[in-house]
Amino acid sequence: MTLTACITGANRGIGLELSRQYLDAGWDVIATARNLDALDDLTDLAQEHPNLRIEQLDLGDQASVSAFADRLGNQPIDLLINNAGIFGPLPFVENIQKQRFGTVDFQVWADVLAVNTLGTLNVTQALVENVAASSKKLIVTLSSGAGSIGDSDRPAIAYTSSKAALNKAMTIVARTLKDREIVVAIMCPGYVRTRMGLGGGDVEVEESVSGLRSLISGLTMADSGTFRRYNGDVIPW
Ligand SMILES: NC(=O)c1ccc[n+]([C@@H]2O[C@H](COP(=O)([O-])OP(=O)(O)OC[C@H]3O[C@@H](n4cnc5c(N)ncnc54)[C@H](OP(=O)(O)O)[C@@H]3O)[C@@H](O)[C@H]2O)c1
Repeated sequence: MTLTACITGANRGIGLELSRQYLDAGWDVIATARNLDALDDLTDLAQEHPNLRIEQLDLGDQASVSAFADRLGNQPIDLLINNAGIFGPLPFVENIQKQRFGTVDFQVWADVLAVNTLGTLNVTQALVENVAASSKKLIVTLSSGAGSIGDSDRPAIAYTSSKAALNKAMTIVARTLKDREIVVAIMCPGYVRTRMGLGGGDVEVEESVSGLRSLISGLTMADSGTFRRYNGDVIPW
């Protein structure tokens, strides 16, 4: 039986590479993009892979989330990867003061929370029955080690707190879905050379995604509610 992955924010970066690697592994992939007019490499991928379905989804737009869930209907999703996320306004140097104590821009903070935390939870709620109807029953959320209270001193208040809150919420989702045998895992992809990597990064996207896929392939109920890096390291909360 062919397995189905649904990957949010798949038009570039880690989401695009996740789509590519799951397609290469023979999965059906539902790849979502916020703007269907700017699909970049996803269109090329669709030409190589007829088992790629591209869908519009904006995490910050309730109508978009509801419409996406309606279009999916009863389609089983073996693996939901909550990948889409934002850092906040870029370029970094000109905008980072909006996330630093003393000069916090509260609209920026609200916008980042709306996508990374509320939006991710909203999509997870909207698709949980699709996951429950599948054989694998996996939900993987890409958080960030920067959201760790015990292990990160990154000063970007909006981004890091959005991921810390997401971590807490996902541990509650994990406990809530335990009786239904749905695994809910939280993962950090490492510091990856994508647009989110802000011009830096110590991991290539292919290596990060290979590591994430390896972790995902070994997930069991015992891993539900855990927070791990792409290389398997446990990240303190
Ligand atoms: N790269 C890193 O070093 C790193 C480290 C730790 C965690 N992460 C996490 O890994 C995930 C992927 O990061 P990345 O490096 O691939 O980032 P990226 O290259 O910036 O890509 C982010 C993706 O999310 C999408 N997105 C943004 N806002 C959205 C919204 N409102 N609705 C739907 N999609 C939206 C973007 O779509 P558009 O093209 O339309 O903007 C894009 O497809 C993120 O959750 C990020 O926080 C990354």
